Order: sequence, then C-alpha cells, then structure tokens
Amino acid sequence: MSRTPQAPSPKSPPQGARPPGASSGTPDVLVVGGGIIGLVTAWRAAQRGLTTALVDPEPGGGAAQVAAGMLAAVTELHYGEQTLLGLNLASARRYPDFVAELTGATGATGEDLGYRRCGTLAVALDADDRAHLRELHALQQRSGLESEWLSGRECRRLEPMLAPGVRGGLRVDGDHQIDPRRLAGALVTACERARVTFHRTWAERLVVVRDRAAGVVTTDGTELRAGQVVLAAGSLSGRLAGVPEDVLPPVRPVKGQVLRLTVPKRSAPFLSRTVRAVVRGSHVYLVPRESGELVVGATSEELGWDTTVTAGGVYELLRDAHELVPGITELPLTETRAGLRPGSPDNAPLLGPTELPGLLLATGHHRNGVLLTPVTGDVMAHALTTGELPDEARPFTPRRFDAAALTEQPV
Ligand code: GLY
Repeated sequence: MSRTPQAPSPKSPPQGARPPGASSGTPDVLVVGGGIIGLVTAWRAAQRGLTTALVDPEPGGGAAQVAAGMLAAVTELHYGEQTLLGLNLASARRYPDFVAELTGATGATGEDLGYRRCGTLAVALDADDRAHLRELHALQQRSGLESEWLSGRECRRLEPMLAPGVRGGLRVDGDHQIDPRRLAGALVTACERARVTFHRTWAERLVVVRDRAAGVVTTDGTELRAGQVVLAAGSLSGRLAGVPEDVLPPVRPVKGQVLRLTVPKRSAPFLSRTVRAVVRGSHVYLVPRESGELVVGATSEELGWDTTVTAGGVYELLRDAHELVPGITELPLTETRAGLRPGSPDNAPLLGPTELPGLLLATGHHRNGVLLTPVTGDVMAHALTTGELPDEARPFTPRRFDAAALTEQPV
C-alpha cells in the first residue's frame, strides 16, 4: 500500500513491530473496533506515518451512539479512583486542542461537534443527597479540583428550571460536553482523510503466527494481516476468538439506558449547563445541547449482552429527572436507547502492549470513553511507535491484571 503520511517525520516502528518478511502490502497496524476509541487510535497511528487499517462492520457506531458525552472528570470523581482521575484530567486538558485539530482535519467546527464548555451543576434534592454531595466536594478539594458549593437558591438562580426543593449543589465550570455521535462521525472522516483503510466486516478470530499476533480472520473468511493488532472493540473486546486466555481483556458489558428529549426551538433555553444528581442512590444527568436535544441518562445495569430498553429503566430516568427539573414532562420524548459500557475490574482502561507480542489493547474505558478519547489516541500512537507506554499511562497497562501481577499486589 502506498500512501503519503499526513504527519511530519514518522517515528520508526518499535523493534520487532513487524514480523520479518512481512509483505509491503501488509499495514503496520490493524485496529479491531471502529468506535471512538478504535477510530482515534487509527487516526493518531496514521498521523504518525503508520499504514493503518480498521475492521468494523459499522465504523462510528457502538457506545458513542448512546453516550451523553459529558466530559466530567470532576463531577464523576469516585473514591478509590484517584489514579484514573489523573488520566481523566490529562484528557480533559487536551480536549480544546483535540477538538481544534479534529475540526481542522475534517472541516467541521467545534459547534458542529457539539463541543460546549458550559460547565456542570451537581445538585442535591434531600438531606441524604446533600451529605453525599458534601463528601464529594471534600474529596474534590483534597484532590485539588475546582468546584464551588452553592445554596439551593444560588443553584436556581443559575438554572431557573430546577425544582424548588433543590437543597444545594456543586458548580464545576471545568466539566464540559461534546456530542459523541458527531465526534464519531468526525473521527471517521479524519481517518478517511488520513488514509486509514476500512474493512466493513466483523473480526472473528485473532491470527497468531510463531507466538505473535499477526492479524485477524473476518466472518467472511478473509485474513487481514498487520504488523501490530490493536483490540479496541469496547465491551466485545473479551470475545475475539484466538486471543490466548492469559491476555484476553477482562472487560464486561455494563448496560446504560439513555433518553433523548427535544426542547422546541422557539421556547426559552431550558438548561444552560449539564445538571446532575444522585437520586435514591442512582445517578441521573441532563445534558442540554445547542441543537435543542436534551439527553437524560443513565441506568447502570449488569445484565450481560442485553440492550433492551425497559419500561422500568425509562420510568426511573424520567421520575428522577422530573424530580430535578419538573418541566421535562412537557418535552417531546424523541428517542430511547441502551448501550454497553466496556467495564473493567477497576473501572479504568487497559492501554498498550500485552504479553502477546504484536497485540495491544485500548479498551475497558467504562464510564469515561468519550472523556478519555484524546489521551487514548496519544497513548496508543506512542505505544505503537515506541513499544512503550508514556508515563501518564503506565498505571493502565493491561499487564496489571496478569495472574502474577495480581498475586504480587500488597494486601
Ligand atoms: N459517564 C456517564 C455514564 O457512563 O453514564
């Protein structure tokens, strides 16, 4: 395959990246999975001068078609996830440049991608929610994050559609949003312009030659060879046949049901920023887009490969969202959908080389796939060109789940 690299001065592939004697028609990299993580990996790899192919029946599909697109490193902080916080913040910091580069590469604008630096308001509806939010605020402060405690009245001054019963909240101006569907579309275009080859079919089995990943066989029996293979198939990443048991990523599907409502064009702005809360222990968020779309999410259900939208899921989301913002019941309900987050044992992604030479992972992003897209692209391009993980990604090596590494963990 002859192509002109977009990026200047490509680095040499890592030693041993290509099996000796690989034909010149064999791409340097084959990415398995065309969701936003696979696409950003392919785009960044191609920019580094690596000939790149991607296999997916529907590039740009997957969980990004369902996700709300909150870039919520601060308001989605959880106890025990401080290491992940570092990666989340690193990715959040890269977002403005990433969007600028992506829009430059595709001719879109930041507005076309639904990128809004609008901030987030996390609110409490009762004394228990308030105590929970106070704890979150304390954790944010201990972690050096910017967030401001507001009274209920101050919250309603910012967002007049909030319920009168709101007892207080946290204003986080640094938590933004992007429209994941548009992000996915732009990444497909960016990949096409960077001359990534798309194979619109399913990868069925990994090909291993002399103890090295060498490509995949697709469902129609075609063998696609490559110097390195990146498994970036979201919640399906643990299901590719032929991957040795000890390097199979421990990812599982975590179902999220999400609703889309529409704020009529002529009405007053409904919400000016993302509003979220924990209601009776469940997270609910409302993400308002410039287009008038209002995304309400999300359930979190451990039900395997089930993507059924249930009456119970829709009811609970609407009930909780209505408690926060009673006016939502007036809006047309335009879409209900369920997607599968790729959950990992520690809620953090698996990035970089595995114990099987030639096989890398970019999966397990769980609740943070959209947020982590920019940093994942950079990390994977570094790993593909050097064979190493950059410092900020070392804690996310897939090797942390190897049996030996797990037995070495201090108790
Ligand atoms: N990050 C939002 C969600 O996973 O529902």
